[in-house]
Amino acid sequence: MRIIRTVDEMKKLHREICGPVGLVPTMGYLHEGHLSLVRASKKQDINTVASIFVNPTQFGPHEDFKKYPRDEKRDMAMLENAGVDYVFAPSVEDMYPAGFDSWVEPGILQQCLEGAVRPGHFRGVCTVVAKLFTIIRPDRAYFGQKDYQQYLIIKRMASDLNLDVSVEMLPIIRENDGLALSSRNTYLSPAERQAALVLYRSLLTARSLFDEKEHRAEVIRKKMTDVIQHESMAEIDYVSLSHQDTLCESDEVSAKTIALVAARFGKTRLIDNMFLA
Ligand code: PAJ
Repeated sequence: MRIIRTVDEMKKLHREICGPVGLVPTMGYLHEGHLSLVRASKKQDINTVASIFVNPTQFGPHEDFKKYPRDEKRDMAMLENAGVDYVFAPSVEDMYPAGFDSWVEPGILQQCLEGAVRPGHFRGVCTVVAKLFTIIRPDRAYFGQKDYQQYLIIKRMASDLNLDVSVEMLPIIRENDGLALSSRNTYLSPAERQAALVLYRSLLTARSLFDEKEHRAEVIRKKMTDVIQHESMAEIDYVSLSHQDTLCESDEVSAKTIALVAARFGKTRLIDNMFLA
């Protein structure tokens, strides 16, 4: 596995390697969710590149950029074990040199859900992912359903800007008890970790109501909210039943609906989602 630290070196790599390139962009502190994306790339592509870059521009001024968990040694060992060919791990100064002043601004898809709670977040995400795409020039890039809105926005961006990369989505990897894996789970105290299970439970509630032919979004949303509010440690940011392509909030749910939730447990903000069908 080769570790590449600079944009210049990474840009040259494209000329040296043959065959399709798969990219797995990450912010490090890796877990099985990230590794599932690596495995998907290994199946499809001759060359797999993973990137590790805690991207400052996607964090709000009061968010956790500084204390975002980092353990590069452990990440590199995990990627090597998983059979990654190249790791791109640039510095902030190299990605955002002095004078940097151009941005990729997503449209309507960023106005709801995460985008509404975290202004500027998706502008930072799109900017860094567009840079990664042009520096690495992958044929395919792999993203998790865990950040469903991010996946949709990046897919839209790649299409709108003719970036010539196929944007793939892989399912959410969960702990045995249902908690979606996240680098931020390490912030949780044991009690918060237990409380956080209400997110998954609320999503299962939505799905079983839909299975029982309940199609009124208002009824399902209320039941999901009740499940989360039953847990006193949880503070809801949103409970949403949205169309999976447009992210428009639904009155009537259907096989095209995705349930999305976000809540805070102490200082830690977690998100999760599930398709109803
Ligand atoms: P990060 O949070 O490190 O996530 C990297 C990728 O792993 C994302 O595509 C995310 O959806 C996926 N992922 C996270 N948890 C997962 C889980 N439990 N199951 C499956 N996939 C999971 O998302 C980012 O970094 C950044 O915004 C990035 C795209 C790298 C841009 O900076």
